[in-house]
Amino acid sequence: MTRAPGALARVATVVVMGLACREEGVVAQQRVPGGSAARGERALVAYGCGSCHVIPGVAAASGRVGPPLTDFADRTFVAGKLRNEPTALTTWIQDPQIVSPGTAMPDLGVTNADARDMAAYLYTLVSRRLGPPHPIPERAIPGH
Ligand code: HEC
Repeated sequence: MTRAPGALARVATVVVMGLACREEGVVAQQRVPGGSAARGERALVAYGCGSCHVIPGVAAASGRVGPPLTDFADRTFVAGKLRNEPTALTTWIQDPQIVSPGTAMPDLGVTNADARDMAAYLYTLVSRRLGPPHPIPERAIPGH
């Protein structure tokens, strides 16, 4: 097989540019305004989220009560109810009982600032194999 000179370098450039577009590995539609993943990691510990969830990179987060939050950035829905985007995720973290009355996840009195930080952290959890969340037809979303 012959390859045009520099073809490999051009491919490498495109890959590098693609990675550069992902600030801290987060795709644009999952960037949380004002959220800090570093603070989020500490907040996830402080609120004890890890007692119920496996959360990669968070100390002692090995709970099996709720679903593992591994590769959370790749998930299409939050709790099978809301499209996985920043506002929905912070809403869920602050008010799971309003979104899904009776769910086993309790309201923990999370402030909006802390929820944004935790969301920023959760959106760094990406497998890098699947790409951004899959587009889904509006009719598949409850309430649309
Ligand atoms: C007492 C256990 C418990 C605690 C504590 C808890 N969760 Fe949950 N969480 C759950 C359960 C159970 C679900 C599944 C809820 C559902 O689908 O109705 C869930 C769902 C979620 C989801 C959606 C997961 C998915 O796969 O769609 C996220 C995100 C989440 N929790 C984040 C958090 C964060 C952040 C905290 C800490 C502020 C936290 N949870 C604390 C039990 C808990």
